[in-house]
Amino acid sequence: MKNIIQNIKGTKDISADDTFIWQFVEKYINDFFTKYGYSEVRTPTFENTELFIRSIGGDTDIVSKEMYSWVDQGNNKLTLRPEFTASIVRHYIQNQIHKTNPAYKIYYSGSSFRRERPQKGRFREFRQFGVEAFGSKFPEQDAEIISMAYNFYKNLDITDIKLELNTIGSKESRKEYTIGLKKYLEKFKKDLSETSRKRLDSNPLRILDTKIDFEKEIIKDAPKIIDYLNKEDKNHFSCTLDFLDNIKIPYTVNNYLVRGLDYYSQTVFEIQSNLLGSQNALCGGGRYDYLVEELGGPSIPAIGFAAGIERLILALSINDVIFKKYPDIYMISIGDNAVKYSFEIADTLRKNKKLYIINDNMRRTMKAQMKDANRVMAKHVIIIGEEEIVSKQLTMKNMETGDQEKISIENIIEYFK
Ligand code: HAM
Repeated sequence: MKNIIQNIKGTKDISADDTFIWQFVEKYINDFFTKYGYSEVRTPTFENTELFIRSIGGDTDIVSKEMYSWVDQGNNKLTLRPEFTASIVRHYIQNQIHKTNPAYKIYYSGSSFRRERPQKGRFREFRQFGVEAFGSKFPEQDAEIISMAYNFYKNLDITDIKLELNTIGSKESRKEYTIGLKKYLEKFKKDLSETSRKRLDSNPLRILDTKIDFEKEIIKDAPKIIDYLNKEDKNHFSCTLDFLDNIKIPYTVNNYLVRGLDYYSQTVFEIQSNLLGSQNALCGGGRYDYLVEELGGPSIPAIGFAAGIERLILALSINDVIFKKYPDIYMISIGDNAVKYSFEIADTLRKNKKLYIINDNMRRTMKAQMKDANRVMAKHVIIIGEEEIVSKQLTMKNMETGDQEKISIENIIEYFK
């Protein structure tokens, strides 16, 4: 029998001691993307399975082995979103947004689900945030998205980051390249892994992304897409790089960067960090100029990226103290009258001063309450006992300096100015 008092493998609780950093990140996401003129969109957590198959691609790892799919009571094939782009494109087409908003720029955040092998930085339920911009085919849009991703981490003082870029060209350029690449890889067919042998027919570009050492050796001498690009594609990529150079965004061009989802075209990119261990991708994205049309909408170019919040928090956790909010006051009350009294004082202070105040509510000993005030790292402790009530003087202890003083109840609001 299953142990029901056990969370599902690959999921996790975010406990009361950890939510402060999540709240900080969620606020940062909202503020950061709003500054660039992107508005938040929220879509449902599940969609028709077919939407993900047709967007992400049937041969990809996500669709072939990682989706949480089921058939509901009404015989509908449904899937928990493994990513947001497909849902956002569905939302864009369904609401005919191109008619009212030719330059649609949005951001999102929420849970995504992939049945991957759990490890550090890799979960089966994880939170993603991301941005998508519809309507512009121009390189300044690529540069805006890429620089947003880069600055997002840089502004948080995550310095150990590496931005890698590539172009996989338009359909036309890619067709030529795929023929060249396939011809080269055919020579090594017997040496390739089973997965790569299958991909040789279905999607040879994905073999470039191999993690297997001996395949990496083979790839080293493979033809590069950059040599197969038509003039327009070449120009698009070099202009994108110019925009990035002008605002001093450092990057490396990695000719073998291909992303694990089928909808990409032209610019693709990833930001990695060594802080993360083997799952080192902080975020990834690129153009998907054909997807809106392929899903039945008009021909509208688009570009975006998405990032894992757990991985961001892992990178931030080194500095976590900076983000933690500590209580301004811990109210210690000894005796029934003092409990009532401190309850009222806390209420008055919260209303007047917007302070973060903890009431013990456990009627514990003075020693136990003081221990708890230390545990939560309260900045001040207010002690109220019979003596304080009679004298109308509270005992205030500054927990940072250790100083203790008596303060008249009338002056308590003033004290916190
Ligand atoms: P992706 O590379 O599959 O792209 O995922 C983006 C990011 O989500 C990764 O870089 C990683 O930080 C995080 N992530 C992915 N899988 C997991 C996991 N199992 N556990 C924890 N974090 C994970 C996309 O999803 C595309 N929709 C990005 C995009 C948006 N392209 C254009 N627009």
